[in-house]
Amino acid sequence: MATLFAVGVGPGDPELLTRKAERVLRHADVVLAPVSNPVEASVALETVREFLDEGRQEIVVHQFPMTADPARLIPAWNEAAALIAGRIAAGKDVAFITIGDPLFYSTFIYLLRIFRENYPHIPVEVIPGISSINASAAQALTPLVEGDERMIVVPATAGIDKISEALARYETVVLLKVKPVFADILELLRQMGRERSTVFVERVGSARQKVLTDFAEIAAYSPDYLSLMIIR
Ligand SMILES: C[S@@+](CC[C@H](N)C(=O)[O-])C[C@H]1O[C@@H](n2cnc3c(N)ncnc32)[C@H](O)[C@@H]1O
Repeated sequence: MATLFAVGVGPGDPELLTRKAERVLRHADVVLAPVSNPVEASVALETVREFLDEGRQEIVVHQFPMTADPARLIPAWNEAAALIAGRIAAGKDVAFITIGDPLFYSTFIYLLRIFRENYPHIPVEVIPGISSINASAAQALTPLVEGDERMIVVPATAGIDKISEALARYETVVLLKVKPVFADILELLRQMGRERSTVFVERVGSARQKVLTDFAEIAAYSPDYLSLMIIR
């Protein structure tokens, strides 16, 4: 039976796709990049474009409302699920691409819930991807954790209190989605004396990759959406 594949395409470097991801993408009949943030959609698609045959495969970029309001998001997700279910009923394999890993702060998680509830007969397979965190640690040559250490991942949009609490409790703190609260994070790191243990990484794996370890340089920088911080 035709299958829905969630394919993690890694952080943006085509060489950081797994062999399984490449195989699934080459064979899929439909490739779908449906995300709420247009930056992510294009990064995912550009990362895999060299594996696709646009003459044979149907490529769909599905734009979602940029909102956290469930009243607007849920209908949009149901619509995407119906589109996928229709292609699968026609015998087509669908590959849903996500940056990094599909089960790690990814848009695919919404869709998985809908498929479990509304289309339980459709087979779903997840192809894990290299997360932006692992790729960033590699580029910065920064260990994430060793021995008995613990690491916490905080989407910075969760609020400055959560970040402060995480910094006080864990040996390693990874902050995603830093752009909207960048100035507040910098102020907190100054207050907590963590300037020298901070690494900033933007667009890891791409030609525009930036890795900064000097706090003055980090503070002078204006990050874009695809950036994170690792604080040891
Ligand atoms: C919705 S999360 C997606 C995480 C993704 N599923 C993963 O496994 O890496 C988006 C956040 O991940 C981080 N991110 C994703 N790709 C990145 C990249 N290429 N370089 C740096 N950070 C990235 C940024 O913090 C961004 O705001």
